[in-house]
Amino acid sequence: SLILTTLDSSPSSSIEDTRQLKYKGVVLANPDEQNAIKAALDSLWSREMVEYKQITTTSYDLTDEGYGIAASGSHEYRVWQALPVLGEGQPLGIPELKKILGDEVPKIGQGKAFKNKWIVKDGNGFSRAPGVLPSDTTAEELRIVRETFTHPSESILRELLKRKLVAPRKHIHYSVTKGEEFSTVVKQLETDLTVEMLQSGAWKGAHFKQYNFAAAGQPTEGGALHPLLKVREEMRQIFFDMGFTEMPTNRFVESAFWNFDALFVPQQHPARELQDTFYIKDPVKALSPDSEYYKRVSVVHETGGYGSIGYRAPFSKDESERLLLRTHTTAISTAMLYEIANQPGGFKPAKLFSIDRVFRNEAMDATHLAEFHQVEGVVADYDITLGNLIAFMQEFFAKTGNRKLRFKPAYNPYTEPSMEVFSWHEGLGKWIEIANSGIFRPEMLEPMGLPKGVRVLGWGMSLERPTMIKYKISDIRTLVGHKTDLEQVRRRPAVRMEKGDD
Ligand code: PHE
Repeated sequence: SLILTTLDSSPSSSIEDTRQLKYKGVVLANPDEQNAIKAALDSLWSREMVEYKQITTTSYDLTDEGYGIAASGSHEYRVWQALPVLGEGQPLGIPELKKILGDEVPKIGQGKAFKNKWIVKDGNGFSRAPGVLPSDTTAEELRIVRETFTHPSESILRELLKRKLVAPRKHIHYSVTKGEEFSTVVKQLETDLTVEMLQSGAWKGAHFKQYNFAAAGQPTEGGALHPLLKVREEMRQIFFDMGFTEMPTNRFVESAFWNFDALFVPQQHPARELQDTFYIKDPVKALSPDSEYYKRVSVVHETGGYGSIGYRAPFSKDESERLLLRTHTTAISTAMLYEIANQPGGFKPAKLFSIDRVFRNEAMDATHLAEFHQVEGVVADYDITLGNLIAFMQEFFAKTGNRKLRFKPAYNPYTEPSMEVFSWHEGLGKWIEIANSGIFRPEMLEPMGLPKGVRVLGWGMSLERPTMIKYKISDIRTLVGHKTDLEQVRRRPAVRMEKGDD
C-alpha cells in the first residue's frame, strides 16, 4: 500500500527509484528492504496494478588504503611534504623519512615523487624540487568518491579500482509506473475457477490471478553416491566381468561359529577377545548350526582329523554360540561354501565375491575405523593351486590399476599357504600392502562335506584403502562418519579403475 499511495500522490504517476520510498520518514534503501519491495511489486504486477523495471547501479566505497590516502594524502605527496625545499634545510634520506612517516609510505612514495620530479637528489638524501607545487590528484579524486560514492570520470574510477583504492558495490532497485488495473486498494483475486462460480455465474465478474510462469519451481532433490559406493560399484563390475557371483552379505550379526569356529580359528585365538571383537549381549546366544556339521567342526578342533592333529584343546559350545558383529566377510564365504557343499545335486565349482561392512573393536585414527568394508573373492574348484590364486589376483588387481604385484608368505588360521599382497604405488613410490589371501585349510573344508580334491582359494582387502588412494583422502574419518564433507561427496567424480593412473 506504500507503493500504491506513493504512486497515487506522485505528480508523474511514477516512482523513479524505489530507494526513495519512505516508511515513517525513513528511506527503504538497503538490499533487504529492496527485496521486500520487489516481492510486493511482483504481487501487484500479477494483478496488473503496476509495471516496474529493475535498475542496477554501482557505487564505490574507499578501501582501507583509499581512506588512508584520502585522509593524509598519497604516499608520494607525504614524502614531498616531509622534505625541505632545496637549499633551505637538511635533506632527508630513506631512513630519516621512515622515522617520520613509518616504513610503508617512503618505500613507495619516494620512487613516485622522484618520477613525478617533485623531489630531487640532494647529497645522500632528497629535497623538494625548486618551484614545484605538486597537486595530490589521487587524494583529491578519492575525497570525491568518499563524499559521493562515485566519481564523474569513468576512467578515473577504473584507475582507482585497478589500484584497489576503491571497491564497487552493486545495488538493485526499481522504477515503478501505474498498471492498467491501478487502484489504491488491492482486490482479492481468485486463484481457482470453482463449480460454484460456474453455477452462479459469478465467474463473469471475477478477477483471476495471473499464472506466474517466472516462479521458481520446487527445488529438485538430487542425491549423490558416496565415494565408497562408487568404488564398490567399480569393483563389483570387475568381479562380474570375471564371472563371479555376488554373495548375500545382509547379516552384520553372526555367531562365533560361522565367524571363527567353522574357519578353524582356535577358540583361544587372541582376535576373539573383547578388545578385537564386538560381542552382542541380547539375544544371549545364536541358534545352533546343523548338529552333524557342528560335531565334525568340534572334533577337528579338539582332536583333529583329515590328516590334522587339531588344537588338542577343549571346544566349548557356549563359545561357539556367542553372537558378535562379524569381523570379516569370510564368515559369509564360509557359510556359502557349506551351502554349496550340501546343495541338491552336490558340489559344483563356484566363483563368489562380496563387498560389505565388517566390525572390529579398534582404536580409531586416521587410517582405522571400528567398521569398514571388505572386498572378498573366493574360488572353489577341483585341483586348483596357489598358481591359480596368484593368477586370479593378478587379473583382478590389474583391472583395478595394480599391475605390479608382490606376494609375501603370511599366516591366517584358516588358510595355508597364506600370502600378503603388495602393489607398487607409483605416486607414493613404494610397495603398499593391498590384500590378504590364501588357500583354505582342509580342516575347514572337509568337515563341510566338500568332495576330496576340491580346493578353495580366497583373497580379501578393504574397500576404504583404495578409495582413499583414488580420492587422495588422508584421514578416513573425513570419508565416513559425522565429519564427512557432504559437498565433497557431491562433487567427487566417479572413479575409473582401469586407467590405473595412481
Ligand atoms: N578374512 C581375511 C581378512 O580379514 C581376508 C581373507 C579372505 C584371507 C579370504 C584369505 C582368504 O583379512
